Amino acid sequence: MKLSSLVYLDTAHQATAQQWADRFELPCVDGCSVAAAKPKELQRFLSAQCAGVGEVFVFVLDSDGLVLHAVGGESQLSIRADFHRPTVTYRRKQGGGKGQMIAKAVGVRSGVYPWVLDATAGLGGDAFVLASLGCRMTLLERVPAVRALLEDGMIQARRFGVAQDAGLVEVLERMTLVEADSLNYLREVSEAERPDVVYLDPMFPVRTKSAMVKKEMRVFHSLVGQDTDADGLLEAALSCARYRVVVKRPRIAPALAGPSPSHVLEGKSNRYDVYPLEKLPDGLNASGAAGMF
Ligand SMILES: C[S@@+](CC[C@H](N)C(=O)[O-])C[C@H]1O[C@@H](n2cnc3c(N)ncnc32)[C@H](O)[C@@H]1O
Repeated sequence: MKLSSLVYLDTAHQATAQQWADRFELPCVDGCSVAAAKPKELQRFLSAQCAGVGEVFVFVLDSDGLVLHAVGGESQLSIRADFHRPTVTYRRKQGGGKGQMIAKAVGVRSGVYPWVLDATAGLGGDAFVLASLGCRMTLLERVPAVRALLEDGMIQARRFGVAQDAGLVEVLERMTLVEADSLNYLREVSEAERPDVVYLDPMFPVRTKSAMVKKEMRVFHSLVGQDTDADGLLEAALSCARYRVVVKRPRIAPALAGPSPSHVLEGKSNRYDVYPLEKLPDGLNASGAAGMF
């Protein structure tokens, strides 16, 4: 599915909209007339902009930042990276802390906050959870539209944090977004830039017609593809990480090709395959900041 245009809903954001549009070489469209409209009306406006071109993605810049809308198909969905919506804030402040499966998989414990390279950052959900726990995070995402959503999500969250949530700003300061394909990055990284842990969560190939697959997932798949090179990522990650590699998989999916994981943490729908290389040393704190839990 292709990107078709960028629509802004407030003249105050016109300059920013133009910058995003230029970056993607898209037409920048004035949508201020539907700024206060109901979501259905906005969708009708977007569909009218894209009439006759089939299913496309349209960026919309609204008062909360950048959103990607799927337009012209059966799924009228939108995707945004949002690090300060109430559910995310609740998990950050009241969630399971170091007891969460992802924390155990990565090896976070009292006094141990590894520097994690998230080589498949997507919309940054997992990276944000680990940064909230005190890990320094390097995020790599290769799809430009996804990276733009992630970058803008971090900008919006920082803006919100500066105004009313200093803890959120601290978390964001542990997150660095890098524009790169991980396969190249992992293979070429210098000794000094080797992270403690490499975290992988590649897309799992799905039958796109399956009713089991959530609509959102199908739309995200049509944006990023199938990550068919994921097996190569494991090999590169194992040579790059200092202490361990962690791979998130759907619970029933096969492990990535290569060595078998030494241990597996299994949840209801996902599992974490853990490939330890060396024991994580006590007192490991690459972020220089104390963990929050
Ligand atoms: C399932 S999503 C990750 C979701 C993420 N863990 C989260 O919490 O939002 C997989 C992402 O990895 C990205 N990806 C896959 N292979 C990559 C590579 N070699 N380099 C950079 N990004 C990659 C895809 O573009 C996609 O956005």
